[in-house]
Amino acid sequence: MNSILITGASAGFGLATANLFLERGWRVIAGMRSPRNDLLPASDRLQVVALDVTDPDSIKAAVDQAGPIDVLVNNAGIGWMNAVEGTSGETLRGLFETNTYGPMALMQAVLPQMRGRRSGVIVNVSSSVTLKPLPLLSAYTASKAALNALTEVSALELEPFGIKVRIVLPGRAPATSFGDTARAKIQAQGGFPEPYLPVVKAVMDAWASDSEAEVTQADDVAEAVWQAATDPAAPLRIPAGADAVALAG
Ligand SMILES: NC(=O)c1ccc[n+]([C@@H]2O[C@H](COP(=O)([O-])OP(=O)(O)OC[C@H]3O[C@@H](n4cnc5c(N)ncnc54)[C@H](OP(=O)(O)O)[C@@H]3O)[C@@H](O)[C@H]2O)c1
Repeated sequence: MNSILITGASAGFGLATANLFLERGWRVIAGMRSPRNDLLPASDRLQVVALDVTDPDSIKAAVDQAGPIDVLVNNAGIGWMNAVEGTSGETLRGLFETNTYGPMALMQAVLPQMRGRRSGVIVNVSSSVTLKPLPLLSAYTASKAALNALTEVSALELEPFGIKVRIVLPGRAPATSFGDTARAKIQAQGGFPEPYLPVVKAVMDAWASDSEAEVTQADDVAEAVWQAATDPAAPLRIPAGADAVALAG
């Protein structure tokens, strides 16, 4: 039976992905910072493990508990929106810890077993913001652009070992808790610097006036991860959601 380890499986895209792979008969190892057994349907193919992607001990314990892993999905991530001047070094490092260093540490943790079996798939969940620069998203975009680069280069070096590496690029998904979590963090850190308020207003007005715009649903991302995991001919970059597909052109 195929097995998949998903980080950030407590909510949003990660939860939808865990549900989809369970429905389709896979063994699912659902990584959560605060493990909960009531989020996914009970199954003897489901293992919920404690996993904080910024904590090396937590990563080691989770991978040890999981056993053989055919597919790793680096989905856990955090958002941030502010000007460069409104982003502290600590916030920038925090974004990279979760969005970039975390996935790399997870890759390092599972690659020895995948190399040993000469098979495996790694799916890194990035963002469509790396396809089109948007104001106030410099730090978040930088963390995901670095993840793209890491993924693209590792795809080349892992090919001789039979290991495939893919990037899933979701579009904007207002239905997940991602935006609310980021907004709460922005408020907690003092909001936007005063000179940038007109830029913030322009960005907010553009989103508000675009209420008919296409967005991404969690199920779109789960299906893109499914393609990445199961289709040997899947491209390196897979946009997920109507807006991301349109951006990818
Ligand atoms: N939503 C969007 O508009 C959007 C668009 C493009 C890309 N993305 C990317 O898609 C991924 C999932 O986003 P989402 O919309 O599903 O967000 P979400 O609903 O906020 O879920 C994020 C998940 O990541 C987990 N997480 C955060 N920090 C973690 C850490 N240090 N260790 C382990 N887990 C951690 C959260 O766990 P807790 O429950 O413990 O907080 C949660 O399970 C992220 O990588 C995000 O950057 C999102």
